[in-house]
Amino acid sequence: MEPAALRHIFLKNVDNYPKSAVTKNLLKPAIGESLFVAEGAHWRWQRRAAAPVFSHRNVMNLSPIMSSAATRCCERIGKKEKCPINFFDEMITTTFDVISDVTFSDDEGFDRIGVHRAIDGYIAEAGKISLPDILGFPDWVPRLSRIISGKALKQMKALADQTIDRRRDGKSKTPPDLLDLLLAGVDPKTQREMNTGELRDNLLTFIVAGHETTALTLSWALYLLANDDRVQDRARQEVSEKVPTEQVQGEDIVNLQYLRSIIDETLRLYPPAALVSRTAAGPDILCGREVRSGDTVIIPIYALHRHHTLWSRPGDFYPERFETDSPIDRYAYLPFGDGPRVCIGANFAINEVVIILASLLKRFRFKPVAGLVPSPKMILTLRPEGGVWLMAEPI
Ligand code: HEM
Repeated sequence: MEPAALRHIFLKNVDNYPKSAVTKNLLKPAIGESLFVAEGAHWRWQRRAAAPVFSHRNVMNLSPIMSSAATRCCERIGKKEKCPINFFDEMITTTFDVISDVTFSDDEGFDRIGVHRAIDGYIAEAGKISLPDILGFPDWVPRLSRIISGKALKQMKALADQTIDRRRDGKSKTPPDLLDLLLAGVDPKTQREMNTGELRDNLLTFIVAGHETTALTLSWALYLLANDDRVQDRARQEVSEKVPTEQVQGEDIVNLQYLRSIIDETLRLYPPAALVSRTAAGPDILCGREVRSGDTVIIPIYALHRHHTLWSRPGDFYPERFETDSPIDRYAYLPFGDGPRVCIGANFAINEVVIILASLLKRFRFKPVAGLVPSPKMILTLRPEGGVWLMAEPI
């Protein structure tokens, strides 16, 4: 949790700290050698080819898809009023709606529900990290989780490949979705383009890395707001003053600065990627301690964000801390990681959370349900065990 050591790992000596063997063992069966797990030259060319996909302009062009998913979410919740609602489930549905629309938007024959089930099933199984994974056994040692979800994964990959090949021969969407943008992507340095397998693995990576993390941010934010009337009232006031139209649009995001602070504070208290790990490629020194080649280095983001020497009142929900001019140490706050391997979808995620949260605050007041308090549990991501049960009263 020493910021200078974290800077060393993420930036200064980044080549010595590739993604950990545990991360790779868990994710490779689902997302192959894609951006998230690749290393060296194979990572570099993919990152260069994918970077323009997430440019400010492209992400803004996709905001109508986020607005429509937010509207559908509000309609669903409107029908359920007067009973406690599990907002973790609702947010998973909503963010999956967004990510599947921006990856394989309205492609005929693309079985969204099947893909969703296969991915969630895989994460649930893979999350039960097995001993061979931790001990770094070779890949050919069978793991129970792989055997269970292997068939569903194969079917899902075949479906994705068919969709990509159909799109390659057909017309692109207006505005272009992530599949179109990635199909058009070229590494500016080597002119290399992605083949169908590489496109599929990266699109599945966006789905895996993008929908649950974003749903968790929304769920924890709603939980915190439901338990703090002052912050909830101020947030709703900002939305009613700054969003003139019924539907929240991409252009509204820049005006919703308090909402942005709420999201930053939620990511501090409940970072979805609560642990990030690396395997040292060679010997090094961190905080005066010896690191040997092959050692696993675990970066405890959750603990870092609540460290008493780095934060004042670390356990409090206080979004205003992100409004003040007092600088926060860059390496005391790492919800999206840092350095060359920083999250490529961070702006996409923030835009999506602002649009969905503002839409919900416009329509509903959130209240906690007595006796139903979620407890954070780490299953690949920091999940609310038992769900996030809240009341949503129409405004
Ligand atoms: C609130 C939501 C999100 C959070 C908290 C989050 C967090 C992170 C973190 C911490 C990393 C770095 C992991 C490491 O260093 O080991 C990362 C990487 C990544 N994220 Fe996200 N993420 C979010 C949303 C998204 C979205 C929406 C997408 C895509 C649509 C995405 C795609 C990726 C990819 C592809 C990488 C790997 C980048 C590389 O290694 O070059 N993420 N994310």
